[in-house]
Amino acid sequence: MKCAIILAGGKGTRMKSEKPKVMCEVIFEPMLYYVVSAVKEAGVEDICIITGYEHETVEEYLAKLDTNIKTALQSPQLGTGHAVMQARAFIKGHTGDDILVLNGDGPLIDAETINKSYKYHKDNNNAITLLSAVVDDTVGIGHIKRDKNGTLLRIVEDKDANEEEKKIKESNAGMYWFKGESLLYAIDNITNENAQNEYYLTDALEILIKKGENKGAYIAENSEVILGANDRVQLNGLNTIMRRNINNSHMLNGVDIPCTDGVMIGKNVKIGNSTQILPNTIIIGDTEIGENCVIGPNTYISNAKIGEGVILDNCKVLDSEIQDGVDCGPFVKVRANSVLKKGVHIGNFVEVKNSIVAEGTKAAHLTYIGDSDVGQDVNFGCGTVTCNYDGKVKSRCTIGDGVFIGCNTNLIAPVTVGDRAYIAAGSTITEDIPADALSVARAYQHNKEGWVIKKKPYKEKK
Ligand code: UD1
Ligand code: CA
Repeated sequence: MKCAIILAGGKGTRMKSEKPKVMCEVIFEPMLYYVVSAVKEAGVEDICIITGYEHETVEEYLAKLDTNIKTALQSPQLGTGHAVMQARAFIKGHTGDDILVLNGDGPLIDAETINKSYKYHKDNNNAITLLSAVVDDTVGIGHIKRDKNGTLLRIVEDKDANEEEKKIKESNAGMYWFKGESLLYAIDNITNENAQNEYYLTDALEILIKKGENKGAYIAENSEVILGANDRVQLNGLNTIMRRNINNSHMLNGVDIPCTDGVMIGKNVKIGNSTQILPNTIIIGDTEIGENCVIGPNTYISNAKIGEGVILDNCKVLDSEIQDGVDCGPFVKVRANSVLKKGVHIGNFVEVKNSIVAEGTKAAHLTYIGDSDVGQDVNFGCGTVTCNYDGKVKSRCTIGDGVFIGCNTNLIAPVTVGDRAYIAAGSTITEDIPADALSVARAYQHNKEGWVIKKKPYKEKK
């Protein structure tokens, strides 16, 4: 059985954030999210996460993410070795299993690397297998020290390294496979005798070598997978790589992204073939988009289900469903719990909130549809407002099929408009309208002929 311990207790001082470092975000998800996802994708069945700094924040997040994940609290935080010591009970339950230990602040790690290193670990019957990579910038990392024959000796932390050791480019990724029993032995023998007086997990290598156990390092094929972030500049670097990786995978799947500027797509988003994503478009959460859509430019979509052939031009869509052939924009906001059914047209400066809009209905300009149930083929005139809020409670409007709403109409909720009713422009509707009726709810027009001449409101020029 494959198990994992993920280290997420550190503060991450250089992030200058109130959040623990692992909660700092890459493409709008905490770094920890990607580590957990990769570990699960690799087939790991039992996960224990070490929390510490602001542990409530991490625990709350994990409770929402996956209730099967266990946590162990590390307080105070005395280093990565000390962090693993807090999972002693978890390790004791898995002495006969393989335990993956990895940093929670390395979001680029992937299931493929985890599994390739696992195979290497098993093939060599190792007690410890670490993941390493050859990188140019080795500041702050652990250098992998080998003897002349290339045999692993130990990991030297950058802060403890001498000038020669600092030149070693092979770096410790902060990800290790252990035999469960060997990990238990290692944490019982890690001390804090080093430059930082911390308990280094990296000392486990030397400890197990001394015990005569098999060891090895699996060198990552793509050195990017080991990158972490200690400050927000590096966090930006991780965003850039993650964004490129995700965009590329969509393009290789047949999504058209002619210019990736400002295009940020979340890891869970699904996009159909031949859909085009235009610049400055952010798509996140559990969003699913069908085929042949045009999304963007300047569009933000979160947790939405979008059908086929949909056009979203300069739109914001939150927690809603937009069905096939809908055309929205520019400058449209679709707020939570809305459904725009097939063929709906929503034009410029229109907001829809918590409303169901049935097939073929059009609201082409300057309209607010809130808390409403709207039938098919309704025409909203320019400037229609559903007045859903009286300052205390929100009420619904019900609008039947085929209704024609003249420009600048106010519908004071709760109110029901029957099928095919016709509302005169400028009406303020406070009472229900029966089907097929014309409703006029405005002052009638009086023309006083000759009034201007009699009043002489202005002086005539000579
Ligand atoms: C660690 C490794 C280093 C490796 C690098 C890769 C050690 C001693 N060093 O260094 O060899 O090159 O990762 O990124 O392990 N954490 C805790 N409790 C603590 C301290 C840290 O849970 O007391 C967690 C952090 O939240 C973080 C992870 O462990 O997710 C790594 O901690 P960090 O302080 O960033 O280690 P590095 O100095 O980067
Ligand atoms: Ca780190």
